[in-house]
Amino acid sequence: MCGIVGILGQGPVAGLLVEALKRLEYRGYDSSGIATLEEGQLQRLRAEGKLKNLATRLHNHPLQGHVGIGHTRWATHGKPTENNAHPHASAKVAVVHNGIIENFQELRAQLQALGHQFVTETDTETVAHLITQKLNEGLGPVAAVAASLKLLRGAFALGILFEGHDDLLIGARRGAPLAIGFGEEEMYLGSDALALAPFTDTISYLEDGDWVVLRRDSAEIFDAHDKLVQRPRSQSLASAFLVDKGNYRHFMAKEIHEQPEVVARTLAHYIDLSAGKVNLPFELPPEMVKMERMTISACGTGYLAGLTGKYWFEKFARLSVDIDVASEFRYREAPMAPGAMMLVVSQSGETADTLAALRYAKAQGQHIVSVVNVPTSTIARESDIAALTLAGPEIGVASTKAFTCQLAVLACLAIGLGRMRGVLDAQEESRLVKQLIAIPGLMASALQRESGIEQVSHSLAKARDVLYLGRGTNYPLALEGALKLKELSYIHAEGYAAGELKHGPIALIDETMPVIVIAPSDHVFEKTVSNMQEVAARGGRLILLSDAAGAAGTGLDVTSIVMPDMPPEFAAMVYAIPVQMIAYHTAVFMGKDADQPRNLAKSVTVE
Ligand code: M6R
Repeated sequence: MCGIVGILGQGPVAGLLVEALKRLEYRGYDSSGIATLEEGQLQRLRAEGKLKNLATRLHNHPLQGHVGIGHTRWATHGKPTENNAHPHASAKVAVVHNGIIENFQELRAQLQALGHQFVTETDTETVAHLITQKLNEGLGPVAAVAASLKLLRGAFALGILFEGHDDLLIGARRGAPLAIGFGEEEMYLGSDALALAPFTDTISYLEDGDWVVLRRDSAEIFDAHDKLVQRPRSQSLASAFLVDKGNYRHFMAKEIHEQPEVVARTLAHYIDLSAGKVNLPFELPPEMVKMERMTISACGTGYLAGLTGKYWFEKFARLSVDIDVASEFRYREAPMAPGAMMLVVSQSGETADTLAALRYAKAQGQHIVSVVNVPTSTIARESDIAALTLAGPEIGVASTKAFTCQLAVLACLAIGLGRMRGVLDAQEESRLVKQLIAIPGLMASALQRESGIEQVSHSLAKARDVLYLGRGTNYPLALEGALKLKELSYIHAEGYAAGELKHGPIALIDETMPVIVIAPSDHVFEKTVSNMQEVAARGGRLILLSDAAGAAGTGLDVTSIVMPDMPPEFAAMVYAIPVQMIAYHTAVFMGKDADQPRNLAKSVTVE
C-alpha cells in the first residue's frame, strides 16, 4: 500500500526521491517523507498530506545527501500525521516500510524494557529500534538486519539507511514487492519498476523472503535462509509508459478515455482477428478443459470482473463457477477438486488477500490462471498461466481501464473454453468474436455521451444514497457502479440485482433516492421495467442506461442516457463507461479528488 524508494547516487538524491515518490503516490498519499545522510548524519524531512507538501518543505530546506530513502504512506498503525510519517528513525538507522509488522507490540515492549524510547504510534518504528539494538549489541549493519528480520512477523517490504554509512542501503521483502534498479555506479530500490523508470530500466525483483545489501557498485541478494542468491535482471518496459495526465484533468479521466484503445489491444492478444476465433496465447492443460467446476477469487473491482466472467463461463462453456471475495475465500477452507482451475483477477498483481487465495488453491492442487495487469507482479509470477490484460499502468486509484480489459480477457477465456469443451461450434464462436471485435468502437461511441452523463452526475451530487440495479452481467456492473460512486464521491451507494429490489431495498425508496438502472433492451428488459415501475410508484428518481429502444420503451418518467445499439452478451463492457463517468463527474463536481480518494490506496498489500 505504501510506496518505498531508495537511491545510492552520485549527487544529491533528495529531489530524485521526491520525483520517484510521485510515481508511487498511487500506493498511498496521506503523508510522505525522505531521509538522507549529510556528512554521515541522518537528516529527515516529512510532511502530512499530499506529496506536494513534502516538495515544498524540500524546496525550503534542501538536503544534500547522496544516499537516501523515501516513502509515501497509506496509514495502517497510527494517524496520518507528520510524526507518524516515514522514514522512522532511531539513533542510528532510518527505515521506510510497506506492510504490517504483526508482532510489533511484543517487540516494542521488549525494546522499551531495554531503554528504547518510542515517539510514534507506528509498527515501523519498532524495526528502526530493533536494528539499532542489534547494532548496540556489536553487530555490523548487515548482520544487524539479518538478525532483526528473523524476529519480525508479518508481510512487509523495508528500505534501511544507516548513519555513518554513505555507501549502503539494505532492502528486504516478505510479502510486499520490492525491486532493485541498476545504474552506472548507482543503485536503486523501489516498490515497483514504475518508480525507478526515470533512473534505470535494468531491474531485478526480489523473491519473497529475500533481502539485499546495496552499494553503489554491487547488489548482494540473500534468500530467506541468508544464502547468497542470484535473481535474474530484466529490462523493464515501465519507462515506455508515459505516466502523465496528458490534456486530462485527472488520470482517471485519461484512463476512462483510453479504454477503446487498450481493450482493442487486449482483445487482439487473445483473438485471431482474421480467422474470427479466440486464440489463447497459452495452452490449457486437458484436465482443466474437462473440469466440472472452476473457482474465481479476487477483491474489489477485480472480483466484480470475475462475477461478470461467471455469467460467461456458465453460458459459453457450460462450466459451473464458484466465486468469492478473496478475503473470505482464503479462510473458508473450501474443498476443491484437484486439477481444476482457480482463476484470480488483479490489476496490481500484489493484492494480499488475492495472493493468499491463490496460494491456498495451489496447495489444493488447482491450476492457477491469473488475469493480471502487471506481468512482473507476484500474482503473475506465482500463477501457472498469467493471462495478461494490456491496459498499461493504471494510476487513478479507482479501477477503470483495468476492469474492462479484465472483462475482455474473461470473455475470450470463456469462449475459448467453450470451444474446447465442445459447447460452441465454429459459427457460434465466430458470432461471439465478431461482437467482441465491435466493442472498442462501441466504447468510443459511448465516450461521446460524456456531456449528457456529466449533467446527470451533477444531479446526483445532492443525494445521500444512490441505488444501482441491473440483471445478468449488468448486475455485477450495478455493484461496480455503486463501488465507484462510493469510492470517489463518498455518497453511500448500493448495487442490487434488480429482482432483489422487492426483497428489502425497496424500503429505502422515496423522492430523494436516485435509482440508476442499467438495462439494455435484452431478454430481461421487461422484468427490469417492472422493477422500475415499483420504484416510480414510490416516488424514486429513475436514471436509465439503455439503448434507444429501451429508453423509449419504459412508459415512465425517467432520465435516460441513451447508449449505442448492440447485442446484449458483452454490453456490460460498453455500459461500464457511463457507469465510470457518473462516479467521476459526480466526484469532480463535488470538489473531491478523483485520482486519490480519501482513505484508499491502489495496491492493497495488507490484509
Ligand atoms: O490490484 P487489484 O485488482 O487486485 O485490486 C483490487 C481492489 O483493491 C481494487 O479493485 C479496488 O477495489 C479499486 N479501488 C476499485 O476501484
